[in-house]
Amino acid sequence: MPTSAARKQYDADAFESEFETDVVDGLTRADKQLSPKYFYDEQGSRFFDQICELDEYYPYKTELRLLPLVARDLSRILKDDYSVIEFGAGSLLKIRPILDWLRGVRQFLPIDISGEHLRDACASLAVDYAHIDIRPVEGDFTQEVELGKTVGKRLGFFPGSTIGNFTPQQARDFLATAKQTLGRDSYIIIGVDTKKSTQILHRAYNDAAGITAKFNLNILHRINRELSGNIPVERFEHYAHYDTQAGCIKMHLVSLDKQQCRVAGEDIHFAKGESIHTESSYKYRPDEFIALAASAGWDCEKEWLAEGELFSMFLFKSE
Ligand code: AVI
Repeated sequence: MPTSAARKQYDADAFESEFETDVVDGLTRADKQLSPKYFYDEQGSRFFDQICELDEYYPYKTELRLLPLVARDLSRILKDDYSVIEFGAGSLLKIRPILDWLRGVRQFLPIDISGEHLRDACASLAVDYAHIDIRPVEGDFTQEVELGKTVGKRLGFFPGSTIGNFTPQQARDFLATAKQTLGRDSYIIIGVDTKKSTQILHRAYNDAAGITAKFNLNILHRINRELSGNIPVERFEHYAHYDTQAGCIKMHLVSLDKQQCRVAGEDIHFAKGESIHTESSYKYRPDEFIALAASAGWDCEKEWLAEGELFSMFLFKSE
């Protein structure tokens, strides 16, 4: 059995080599692409926090305003003892209304890939919720996670419309895997961004202060920093548009010139105007999302729509 320090080193090595393989593979394809999961290094996470403060980026603040109402309603529906499992936990801000209102919560198990950040967030949470057994779980929440023995029924929590960054097929796969993780007779609460005016969507992903552009471009800086790259980042431009057919925002980085650079020892070529697809952010009408969840074995118990139908939340029960 490796020591935890050795395990950590092993995980870091595995992550680095996966990052390198994915980046080289993504930048040498005909349709260049990078996975949005690589946005979130320290700098990228800071930019994302700044995005959440923007007036144009409605999903974060709208969901935060909706959550106390959702939590109050849940306290009328969910009367048993529960272990709450948060998928991709981050700063653990959004779980607070749920823990405040649901009297039956005995355990809280947030799952996140970034163990150190997660343990810090759990320590802060434990100060205010000493009566709840808080157990950080370091892991990839998109895979089935072994939670060990938990108390009461399992209640999943997946806010922030992170599910929108999966394709619909990946979202279905995630929901099916979450059902395995949570087991029989479980529930899950999910935050999902809605379809709406393209103007509102465009503003949200093309903010006036250019923070989303910095967030998007940071992935190239990260590649230069971590993979000995020399991508001329200033010769790329952020581009985000809403694809009405696909029902998603597509984010790209567009090369302003014909140019060549090196990443991890590989030559990468860009034609003028060629783009790297960095993120899709799917938006769903409530009926569409309910049907998607049903196809993964989840029945809708209740749905909530925020003011102006800007954002939605759902409570699903496993079949
Ligand atoms: C994390 N995720 C739900 C955000 C979104 O809206 O798709 C990421 C983001 N990309 C640009 N702005 C925010």
